[in-house]
Amino acid sequence: MGIRHFLTLNDISPTELSTIIQRAITLKTERAAGVLHKSCASKVLGMIFEKSSTRTRVSFEAGIAQLGGHGLFLSSNDTQLGRGEPIEDTARVISSMVDILMVRTHKHDIVETFAEYSKVPVINALTDSYHPCQLLADIQTYTEHRGNPQGKTVTWIGDGNNMCQSYIKAARLCDFTLNIVCPEGYEPDETLLAENSDRINQFTSPIEGIIHSDWVVTDTWTSMGQEKEKQQRLNAFNHFQVTEELMAQANDGAVFMHCLPAYRGMEINDTIMDSPYSVVWDEAENRLHAQKALMEFLLGKL
Ligand code: CP
Ligand code: NVA
Repeated sequence: MGIRHFLTLNDISPTELSTIIQRAITLKTERAAGVLHKSCASKVLGMIFEKSSTRTRVSFEAGIAQLGGHGLFLSSNDTQLGRGEPIEDTARVISSMVDILMVRTHKHDIVETFAEYSKVPVINALTDSYHPCQLLADIQTYTEHRGNPQGKTVTWIGDGNNMCQSYIKAARLCDFTLNIVCPEGYEPDETLLAENSDRINQFTSPIEGIIHSDWVVTDTWTSMGQEKEKQQRLNAFNHFQVTEELMAQANDGAVFMHCLPAYRGMEINDTIMDSPYSVVWDEAENRLHAQKALMEFLLGKL
């Protein structure tokens, strides 16, 4: 088989997802027990960032080091990418020197171009359209807390953004139903909605969308790159805050997730992150374990 990339969840099968999640859970248990792994010994991960990051940078850089490899942080401000060197040329050159590449950027077609010209696997570490690495961590977290998400109902509340669109792909891959609650004008991509209409229900009221839900997710109302729209978005999303009162309308045992960074007083209240509903801290930590499993998979070590 040729080079495997991970640009969206479409790049893996349900069986491969299960392999990656089970490996992530094993790596987590073994790390806690002090078991060391060298499955990526001497492998170099190129890490291209055109947007800010805390979790993604730390989890990839720590993750490759824990597997015996090395992470190379490449900010667009400090490379020729920031001065206009074409993506095609950058991808050819960097991929001739590293073993695997992750890219956080703006338009989704930039990671597609990276993948087209790269000699090594390319991982999408967030674009304006998708954030599939976060979904690996979220699926791992649900699996650990509540078991297999197949047949469950997940409710997305907020912006129809890169995270929401990743949940649409996850609904198909994991076989769950997705309720999407967005204010008018902030829905996900129309084509993506149409292609997955068999497993999506759309609502405009959080209360209606959360009933019968097992897993509730939200995200910032203003994603990176949308800063100029912040005030307009605050007005549009005013009634979309997730609180314990809202969570109480979901099924018993429903969990709350947020990819972070979170903005208390906006998409969430001050207390939900530390409420009994919340699994956000496990979700954040699982970025580390899920991406270690993903790197092993893409490097043919799984
Ligand atoms: N969730 C997530 O991707 O966080 P960072 O932006 O901090 O990497
Ligand atoms: N939707 C957010 C996710 C951050 C991890 C953004 O794109 O900024």
